[in-house]
Amino acid sequence: MRVLGIESSCDETAVAIYDQHRGLLAHRVHTQEVHQQHGGVVPELASRDHIKKCLPLIELALQDADCPPDQITGVAYTKMPGLIGALMVGASIGRSLAYAWGVPAIGVHHLEAHLMVALLEDPAPEFPFLALLVSGGHTLLVRVVGLGEYEILGQSVDDAAGEAFDKTAKLLGLPYPGGAALAALAQQGRPGQFVFPRPMVNRPGLDFSFSGLKTHAWQCVQANNIADQQVRADIAYAFQEAVVDTLRIKCERALRETGLSRLVIVGGVGANQALRTRLRALGDDLNVNVFYPRLEFCTDNGAMVAYTGYLRLQRGEQDGLSLGVKARGEMGV
Ligand code: KG4
Ligand code: ZN
Repeated sequence: MRVLGIESSCDETAVAIYDQHRGLLAHRVHTQEVHQQHGGVVPELASRDHIKKCLPLIELALQDADCPPDQITGVAYTKMPGLIGALMVGASIGRSLAYAWGVPAIGVHHLEAHLMVALLEDPAPEFPFLALLVSGGHTLLVRVVGLGEYEILGQSVDDAAGEAFDKTAKLLGLPYPGGAALAALAQQGRPGQFVFPRPMVNRPGLDFSFSGLKTHAWQCVQANNIADQQVRADIAYAFQEAVVDTLRIKCERALRETGLSRLVIVGGVGANQALRTRLRALGDDLNVNVFYPRLEFCTDNGAMVAYTGYLRLQRGEQDGLSLGVKARGEMGV
């Protein structure tokens, strides 16, 4: 089986080709720049850009993989959650190609795809594992028992971790999306200059709350001279420390409560080096194996969609002709 995967749920157009025997043959990502001047993703602009970029990107991926279209035996696309217009573009193109090529098509859940991409790496984690999924739209702790078998142990009650990074970055004058830029700025920050709270760590349970950190960042920005580069770096450092420390505390609690011996970190914020270092140290302390996908598979990508589509098509699943896209929806069987 050889699967073309298409991701178009937000502001990345991404495609990949996964082969059952040879693994990942090609993957290409186009990150939309059109949103930068607006300080956030504009849904209509996202849809239009996906329309322009998706087919040329598929052609390039087929060339990279040296794969004529008649060797594709299945097509997968992201069906939820995401911006509805953006999802419609990838789904329409995916379904149309599958129809034209006479192969099955399947819509995959974006969060499930983020989880499953960890299995593409070597070594791959065995089931069951604890997953920390930290992206622009979601912060979840999930017990992953197998494909389609997920137990949500905790989640954010307000902003996602990535959203808090992006909003704080914006306060510090960094371009959207600001997570990676804030992390770079934090490298010049000095410990101890500012102290941010660790939200909800003193309450039992595994839920998160990040909106208070953004408010705290706003207060810091108001009370200090952020024209001074060092002050901006110090705020970035303190903010990142608070997020990383909060995620570590909740991961430790979840590992102790579940007794799981594998921790997998996925999603865009999983690209953060400070978080990686801290969770590796936690893994060493608790004798837990920690797994990360490569950096480009933390942020949105086509490989996760092609691979998850392959896993589901291989189980004999496929979708009917309707697109079935949804802005929101549960992961599951
Ligand atoms: O998974 P993703 O690409 O898209 C969603 O599904 O949301 O995650 C994007 C998020 C953005 O909020 C971005 O700022 C954040 O991941 N991000 C980072 C880093 N790289 C990307 N946050 C912190 N540190 C990074 N190095
Ligand atoms: Zn994502």
